[in-house]
Amino acid sequence: MKAKIDRLLAEVQSFTAENAEMLEQFRIRFLGRKGFLQELFDEFKTLPGDQKREVGQLLNVLKNAAQDKVNAFKEGPGTGPAAVSTVADLTRPVNFLESGSRHPLSLVRNEIIRIFSRLGFSVNEGPEIEDDWHNFTALNFAPEHPAREMQDTFFIEKDPDIVLRTHTSNAQIRVMEKTKPPIRAIFPGRVYRNEAISARAHCFFHQVEGLYIDKNVTFADLKQTLHYFAKEMFDADTQIRLRPSYFPFTEPSAEMDISCNLCGGKGCGFCKYTGWVEILGCGMVDPAVLENCGIDSKVYSGYAWGMGIERITNLKYQVKDLRMFSENDLRFLKQFESAM
Ligand code: DAH
Repeated sequence: MKAKIDRLLAEVQSFTAENAEMLEQFRIRFLGRKGFLQELFDEFKTLPGDQKREVGQLLNVLKNAAQDKVNAFKEGPGTGPAAVSTVADLTRPVNFLESGSRHPLSLVRNEIIRIFSRLGFSVNEGPEIEDDWHNFTALNFAPEHPAREMQDTFFIEKDPDIVLRTHTSNAQIRVMEKTKPPIRAIFPGRVYRNEAISARAHCFFHQVEGLYIDKNVTFADLKQTLHYFAKEMFDADTQIRLRPSYFPFTEPSAEMDISCNLCGGKGCGFCKYTGWVEILGCGMVDPAVLENCGIDSKVYSGYAWGMGIERITNLKYQVKDLRMFSENDLRFLKQFESAM
């Protein structure tokens, strides 16, 4: 049996294919269901135990050599032996490289950036790993404020506290500490909260923070800017509504709704038959926050807002389940190839 294997191995090693048909015949003779290898493996089973080890190894060498030969000739020009170009089937269609598409959250973020850039806002980013001062204290969060509790915040270190930022508002503080007003900037980025993951909540999501600080900035400026944004982002008929709210870092504070862009404000399942959907929180920067950053609150005033990119994307594209944004399912992502 060993002699037979040696002979076949020599044949395999010297084989060259001149065309695809020859290669196929070779494959069938050696690797086919009734080929030499099958025959030899059947014979192998009848061998006495003490010969199995050595013959088994030889058989594997032969099998791999035959398989390598077939693969080498199949791989095509440039990779196999020289004879390959004669077997390559030049009529086969090429494998097109699939091109990727932009993620829906990137599309919406870029659109938000474009809109505010037209109003003269610059784009900046703050760090995702943040200290307590920039994420909470400078923003006027009281020491016992519930947002600091373990259920909301991912702590990286305790005493002094280092956290994954829970909002992009940290970026406001970083910029105000370093820059003399006027300041007109937006801050897109990822934020983290310790939430159970479901269709409606995730442990990370994305926001765009906005900040405008100058002399004589009023709530009317805030309203006008955000109304312009809503009309540009959705459509020209979009209405806005500001409802009083509370955030530690703004006074007064508001939440902004837009007229439901699915039913045009008439009322539908999406807006829970109210005609309105909430898209952001906003307000006039609290004087204490300005002072925390070394800005004279008697001279300067300003407004700020924070909007969720997922929220706006849902409104534009009706994505029902937040988890889809981070699952990387190409069937989902490809639908946005030509969007925006
Ligand atoms: N940081 C707030 C949040 O994550 C959103 C927010 C509200 C940002 C009001 C602001 C603001 O800048 O003025 O829920």
